[in-house]
Amino acid sequence: MAILNIVKDGDEILRKKSKDIEKIDDKLLTFIQDMKDTMEKAGGVGLAAVQVGKLRRVLVINTGEEELTLINPKMLKSGGSQEDLEGCLSCPGQWGITRRPMKVEVETLTTEGKKVKVKAEGFLAKAICHEMDHLEGKLFYDDAVRMLTQEEIENL
Ligand code: NI
Repeated sequence: MAILNIVKDGDEILRKKSKDIEKIDDKLLTFIQDMKDTMEKAGGVGLAAVQVGKLRRVLVINTGEEELTLINPKMLKSGGSQEDLEGCLSCPGQWGITRRPMKVEVETLTTEGKKVKVKAEGFLAKAICHEMDHLEGKLFYDDAVRMLTQEEIENL
């Protein structure tokens, strides 16, 4: 297990587009485990590879109820809408209200290399959208409905 360094807002790598994973091998699986350990230690719900400095299309999510690893994910469908509080491990101290789809359906490779469809709703759908945005070089505040003031953050 290794705890990786989380890249912070302001580092230009976060604005770059990640590239597809071409091969699922032991090296990748170890990296995914390191991502999970890093996310857990940082107290986050999701982490994309770019946030630990690798421009690869892989992300991990753990909402406490559901755990997901997505490899080369593609959005198939999205619907509905939700507004909720959002932050990011790469953007410490920043919180905003975002508008995200309420439901999503994504196609992804599993860690065994199988192509599957994943349906998600509510909080998990929001987390998937947040992490998939990282793969495109987007950050949650880019189109947040609004950002919280310092006073609001102190009262969270
Ligand atoms: Ni993030």
